[in-house]
Amino acid sequence: MQRSMGVAIVGCGYVADYYASTLPNHPQLRAVGVYDRNPARAADFGRHHGIHVFASMADLLADESVRIVVNLTNPQSHAHVTRSALEAGRHVYSEKPLALSLSEGRELVELAGSRGLTLGVGPCTLLGETAQTLWRALRDGVVGRPRLVYAELDDGAIHQMPYRTWISESGAPWPYLDEFRVGPALEHAAYYLNWLTAFFGPVTEVTSFSALVVPDKVPGVTGSEFAPDFTTASLRFTSGVIARLTCSTLAPEDRALRIIGDDGVLRVAECWDYGAGVTLRTLVPAERRESCDHYLEPPVPFPLVRPADYRYRYNQSPEQDLHDMDFARGVAEVADAVIEGRGARVSAQQALHVLEIILAMMECGMNKIESTFEPVTPMPWAGLPA
Ligand SMILES: NC(=O)c1ccc[n+]([C@@H]2O[C@H](COP(=O)([O-])OP(=O)(O)OC[C@H]3O[C@@H](n4cnc5c(N)ncnc54)[C@H](O)[C@@H]3O)[C@@H](O)[C@H]2O)c1
Repeated sequence: MQRSMGVAIVGCGYVADYYASTLPNHPQLRAVGVYDRNPARAADFGRHHGIHVFASMADLLADESVRIVVNLTNPQSHAHVTRSALEAGRHVYSEKPLALSLSEGRELVELAGSRGLTLGVGPCTLLGETAQTLWRALRDGVVGRPRLVYAELDDGAIHQMPYRTWISESGAPWPYLDEFRVGPALEHAAYYLNWLTAFFGPVTEVTSFSALVVPDKVPGVTGSEFAPDFTTASLRFTSGVIARLTCSTLAPEDRALRIIGDDGVLRVAECWDYGAGVTLRTLVPAERRESCDHYLEPPVPFPLVRPADYRYRYNQSPEQDLHDMDFARGVAEVADAVIEGRGARVSAQQALHVLEIILAMMECGMNKIESTFEPVTPMPWAGLPA
């Protein structure tokens, strides 16, 4: 018999629709109810998805059938909501970032540990077919020893886009002021930092440049409220790999990743699509290299370790790019970890390490990174290390 765990969502905004729509992909999850401090938003969301609406956070936490709290509030509320849920004895899956400061993040990791509770943190794209395929290829040594990584997280010049018209399927507006105040590094760097730290281990050193390039992006709002909209950093991993990661809400959309090894290059064009293709370029054999202009063969598709068969497309509007993301997979990972009595992938320790890296990225200069985390294990369906 399938054991299912009761799940309650806190924060019924723009991203919550993606969770509600992907929860049915995971039979181990059962939606019990939702809560938002904005009662009208909670009512619209609950009605749209046919989910019970709790009148207060206290009511939600008083419901014994809620085993996992899914924290989809704004980043400013993450630490408070996660702390309340952990103090009430609930496992938590939180959207990124874990918290906005290292001290709050540490406190949450310690609280979860001291209560024997599982705290998982998004994004969960590491659990997707694309990331798992890339990781398998690295374990199998298809590019030899990895040396260098170039990772782009450019979302386009959002201030030039009609962002005020972006509405989620249950009617939540895209929270543009919040996004500009938090900035692309805290909002998005984790999409690749989660992969890279899982693949290559902890980071020891970050050298960064960050700037608010377009402060006057919202008429009538002073730029001093906004976070840097451009951040580029070079990272040194304990394993010796060096990575350059750039985040912006200015340069045209580009979320490509290249991993350069001694024997070739792996590339992914998109980290917001769990089934995005992986390509491989291998070295031209030494005996042919003198007679051709290039040292790399043309890219060839590298097959995914399994088909990507989830059922939700990230954006509804045909004018927008489509992103296939199974948001609820991270919640399912927390449920599976609890059921199986093991630590969750997408762990809070890894999220704390990633938070320390991102906060260092947002400063200019060189910073040592102190935190570390237990190695992450690949998904069982992605095969064992070669
Ligand atoms: N918008 C996206 O496309 C997107 C994509 C991936 C991840 N995320 C992440 O998801 C999280 C939420 O983003 P969003 O875009 O849905 O924001 P949003 O502003 O649309 O929604 C957040 C909701 O949380 C509610 N809330 C805030 N504090 C609360 C509290 N203490 N108690 C109860 N409710 C509270 C707000 O009323 C609001 O309805 C953020 O961490 C963001 O980084 C967003």
